[in-house]
Amino acid sequence: VTGSAGLDSPLAVVTGGGAGIGLAVVELLSAKGYRVALVDIDQARAEQAAQRFSASEVKAYGCDVSVREDVFRTAQQILQRQGSWSVLVPNVGWSPHKDFLELTNDEIARLVDLNLMSALWTTQAFLPEMIERGRGRICYVSSDAGRVGSPGQSVYSAGKAGVIAFAKSIAMEAAKTGVTANVVAPGTTDTAFLRAEYDEQEVARRISVHPMGRIATANDVAAAIGFFVADDSSFVTGQVLSVNGGSLRP
Ligand SMILES: NC(=O)c1ccc[n+]([C@@H]2O[C@H](COP(=O)([O-])OP(=O)(O)OC[C@H]3O[C@@H](n4cnc5c(N)ncnc54)[C@H](O)[C@@H]3O)[C@@H](O)[C@H]2O)c1
Repeated sequence: VTGSAGLDSPLAVVTGGGAGIGLAVVELLSAKGYRVALVDIDQARAEQAAQRFSASEVKAYGCDVSVREDVFRTAQQILQRQGSWSVLVPNVGWSPHKDFLELTNDEIARLVDLNLMSALWTTQAFLPEMIERGRGRICYVSSDAGRVGSPGQSVYSAGKAGVIAFAKSIAMEAAKTGVTANVVAPGTTDTAFLRAEYDEQEVARRISVHPMGRIATANDVAAAIGFFVADDSSFVTGQVLSVNGGSLRP
């Protein structure tokens, strides 16, 4: 992948950037001339993904974004290695399929940390720098499950709904600072996350009932994120955009 980022081009921070939707966002923004801080819990995966780009454009950081101290440590590292950022894409989230009453308390806490608290910690660590500079774009990756619910993914859905309400609140709190905050809510998207949870038969079933006869690609979702983080989207904030191909339920 070849981008065209010069040293003074804007810096985008993408969490969960090592695979799936996050990696598609890294590719899109790099092609548009951004430099990228690729943040992922799997350091080896992050390094490997970053190697596909020129070293001056994309740098990898190992970080568990559900752990507040880790997020703050990573923000400091990015500041030192790549300087200040103007784009933030909090993209991490995950859930197994399990009915609510079967979840242990530890599992519930972990799912809240991963799907809700990660977005809060990331915002707490990265927003002040953008406010300071008077410009910034945040695009959270929620899910259609956070709009309409999803059986077997109750805590995930609650966390993703929380991200939507949080983003709208941040959009209003930051409205006068030059920072926008929006949300992309993907429907079923063909990534490792999806393939780990659904077997071939379930993927085929979802495709068969989909209005477009296919599910989203990571690039479909990245394109919508690209719109929200663009410089000229400065009057668009507090919005939620589903990328679901017209499928009104996930
Ligand atoms: N795939 C779908 O069908 C779908 C649908 C709706 C929403 N989403 C959301 O899109 C986002 C991306 O999902 P995906 O399908 O691309 O997932 P994915 O599993 O393909 O990729 C996720 C990446 O995030 C990294 N990661 C996981 N936990 C992390 C942590 N604690 N800290 C830092 N990095 C971490 C993983 O190592 C991986 O590289 C998630 O928020 C997910 O909830 C996905």
